[in-house]
Amino acid sequence: MAALKYAGLEDTDSEEELPPGWEERTTKDGWVYYANHLEEKTQWEHPKSGKRKRVAGGLPYGWEQETDENGQVYFVDHINKRTTYLDPRLAFTVEDNPVKPTTRQKYDGNSTAMEILQGHDLSGKVVIITGANSGIGFETAKSLALHGAYVILACRNTSRGNDAVQRILVEWHKAKVEAMTLDLASLQSVQHFAEAFKSKNVPLHILICNAAVFGAPWCLTEDDLESTFQVNHLGHFYLVQLLEDVLRRSSPARVVMVSSESHRFTEIKDSSGKLDFSLLSPSKKEYWAMLAYNRSKLCNILFSNELNRRLSPHGVTSNSVHPGNMIYSSIHRNWWVYTLLFTLARPFTKSMVHTPDFVHEKQSFRCP
Ligand SMILES: NC(=O)c1ccc[n+]([C@@H]2O[C@H](COP(=O)([O-])OP(=O)(O)OC[C@H]3O[C@@H](n4cnc5c(N)ncnc54)[C@H](OP(=O)(O)O)[C@@H]3O)[C@@H](O)[C@H]2O)c1
Repeated sequence: MAALKYAGLEDTDSEEELPPGWEERTTKDGWVYYANHLEEKTQWEHPKSGKRKRVAGGLPYGWEQETDENGQVYFVDHINKRTTYLDPRLAFTVEDNPVKPTTRQKYDGNSTAMEILQGHDLSGKVVIITGANSGIGFETAKSLALHGAYVILACRNTSRGNDAVQRILVEWHKAKVEAMTLDLASLQSVQHFAEAFKSKNVPLHILICNAAVFGAPWCLTEDDLESTFQVNHLGHFYLVQLLEDVLRRSSPARVVMVSSESHRFTEIKDSSGKLDFSLLSPSKKEYWAMLAYNRSKLCNILFSNELNRRLSPHGVTSNSVHPGNMIYSSIHRNWWVYTLLFTLARPFTKSMVHTPDFVHEKQSFRCP
């Protein structure tokens, strides 16, 4: 059952577990058969359940099927550079006579992006991820690229963007990844990015608005807006407007807004219940970093909901997501107190496979 374990679906008590001495194999055309090594015979039916099965779908991205000199089929996983006689599709078998499917939760808080994408071939899909040089954005970019997508890492710091691309290429030299410059604190930079992307004449299937600042000192951007509000919300809002036509042409397409549960702990209405615009980009006197972050995350959700309402009839969906609490990325780096809190919480929260070296460096803010 190694294939099931690899897919995060291990269930040792199930009737699917093979008795000792038995092995599950596949034929070239995807039928599952069972080898009994003790009695040296094979059969189509599962020795316990009596069911016949076949694999569903093709091989995961980066895998190839080969035949050795004895005529036995084996599998090469080019991404993880390993060879196995175990068909990876055994994690996704279907019964020959399917019975009513049971609902079963496949993923939970411990599932990784790689596990969730297991078995998906994203070749031909074009993805933009903002703030993809670190943290959640980087893990997402890497996982999508390792499953065949063409991923553009939209980063404000070009050398960090290129470094992130190199880290992905080390894992899979054929990954289609590219860094492009995007500084959400500058509406002009957002415009330049959108123009540069459009000049490539490629579709856009997935736009992940992930970049954010947290705990930033008060500072106005070159557009005269408070920086947390502009980077986390308005810059993304403008980016989506500029790329909307490409998204529509690429339908089915999707926008994902990486928000946060902290959106709950704020308000953007005044005492009479009306939207208070002055709260969105407050003056230095009225600024509190945590509240500014929470408001920007609330804006992410409100924007995503409205975007979905307007664009889903045209084949472009939008969803917002809370990625988890206090994940040890680089997000805490603007104040030592946040770093301390994230460090204390680290053993109990989701962990990142890769933690970049600059995780403790403070972010630089260009305050004109
Ligand atoms: N970590 C958590 O516990 C947590 C919880 C809830 C929600 N989230 C959300 O998850 C998302 C990703 O955060 P993370 O935890 O992965 O943090 P992170 O490691 O700090 O990543 C944030 C990314 O945003 C980029 N960025 C900052 N300012 C930018 C700008 N002006 N233009 C373009 N990119 C900019 C950063 O680039 P630089 O490296 O150049 O600064 C960095 O790559 C955020 O939306 C955050 O609100 C995180």
